Amino acid sequence: MAEFHEISPNAPLSAKALNWVDNRFPLSKLFKEHMSEYYAPKNFNVWYIFGSLSLLVLVIQIVTGIFLVMHYKPDAALAFASVEYIMRDVPWGWLIRYMHSTGASAFFLMVYLHMFRGLLYGSYRKPRELVWLFGCGIFLALMAEAFMGYLLPWGQMSYWGAQVIVNLFSAIPFIGPDLALLIRGDFVVGDATLNRFFSFHVIAVPLVLLGLVVAHIIALHEVGSNNPDGVEIKANKDENGIPRDGIPFHPYYTVHDIFGVSVFLFVFSAIIFFAPEMGGYFLEYNNFIPANPYVTPAHIAPVWYFTPFYSMLRAVTSELMYVLMAVTVLAAVLAVVKVKMPTLFKGVIAVGAVVIVALMLLIEAKFWGVVAMGGGVVILFFLPWLDNSQVKSIRYRPTWHKYLYAVFVIDFLVLGYLGIQPPSDIANRVSQAGTLFYFGFFLLMPWWSRMGAFKPVPSRVVYKPH
Ligand code: HEM
Repeated sequence: MAEFHEISPNAPLSAKALNWVDNRFPLSKLFKEHMSEYYAPKNFNVWYIFGSLSLLVLVIQIVTGIFLVMHYKPDAALAFASVEYIMRDVPWGWLIRYMHSTGASAFFLMVYLHMFRGLLYGSYRKPRELVWLFGCGIFLALMAEAFMGYLLPWGQMSYWGAQVIVNLFSAIPFIGPDLALLIRGDFVVGDATLNRFFSFHVIAVPLVLLGLVVAHIIALHEVGSNNPDGVEIKANKDENGIPRDGIPFHPYYTVHDIFGVSVFLFVFSAIIFFAPEMGGYFLEYNNFIPANPYVTPAHIAPVWYFTPFYSMLRAVTSELMYVLMAVTVLAAVLAVVKVKMPTLFKGVIAVGAVVIVALMLLIEAKFWGVVAMGGGVVILFFLPWLDNSQVKSIRYRPTWHKYLYAVFVIDFLVLGYLGIQPPSDIANRVSQAGTLFYFGFFLLMPWWSRMGAFKPVPSRVVYKPH
């Protein structure tokens, strides 16, 4: 137990109150550790705002969610009308609802930008692997949260989107149909589905999300933040043990963050007040029609933040399976012929490739589409061990790495765009090429990331006072 600290009887009341708390709860200690004596690199740039903004959106979603639940009815017969009631009759209900629906898109936008920053500066690499892994867990939880939340208004898109996605699980061999039944709680999406999705959306997933966010930040503060130069500031400390390139998070970065929050709130409010549906991208038009199990909409597409992965699902056709088989065989032959390893390992690789190709022949393409969609997210977990580059930050990588990253971003955006569009021959070909590029980017990273002429990394961070 920490020593009891006495304070002068003449001290101001606020100091006495704080001392009383500090003797019973480490309030000042926590504030120092995580704010005023948390030394962050002095060269943060604009990419470093998206962590705090993700945190802000998380709070907005929880607070608006609490108010929505006060009037929402998780019942298939009442849900749609209760949302309309919130929009028309509940005082300020429209604002709360639009904040929550726009918040969902804002959340993904902030998190995608936040993750891309990690990619740019190699923030997932040693010693920040766990920060990244908790982040990937957050991303998965966020996807589950958004997917289940979308069912709740019980519109046509809610209903049919859930129907399509839950049906995908039935493509898993042996357990698939039972798994889909377990998720739905019925043979089709129905009242039971709505109730369980409500329960998960309102309490189970948010608890996991909050726990993961706390773990994410504790892990980050244990190892310290990375920065745009990818230089470890802890490697150069002054006589007091403070990193020479570090500045206290509070007040320096709290001020930065308040500025970022203001800009964000301007844009966020503009969308809420002037374009809450965002031309059908944030709230799809079909979702203003009550769910009707007897009428399937002509075109079912998920909300924009899922569409890159949805494109990967659609890209895997039985035709593409032949390409994937050829790639598997080629990779195995190359590994066996080119890489030096014991004969036993070569045997394992050869047998493994034969088994995979056999499975590809036996199981329908739809299942492999589901594997591609899930794999597109799961592969991110492995990033810390796929990247073998000598340097962390893109700034000191060979110039062509920058172009490769640019192509990766374009590829992801194109996949996202195509996922919203109805399928067509040409679009399918492009999404197949895009999907192969996406996986190639990650799976071949152990090789390409160490190739090329790297630039010398400075020993201290680069910082221009402004
Ligand atoms: C609810 C979602 C999330 C919240 C609230 C959140 C919050 C934060 C905060 C406040 C920081 C410190 C400030 C900053 O560096 O921007 C941070 C850093 C970081 N986050 Fe997240 N994060 C979230 C999701 C993610 C996801 C999905 C990933 C990756 C898959 C991720 C990876 C990272 C990494 C690698 C860092 C360290 C960056 C560096 O030091 O350069 N985060 N996060």
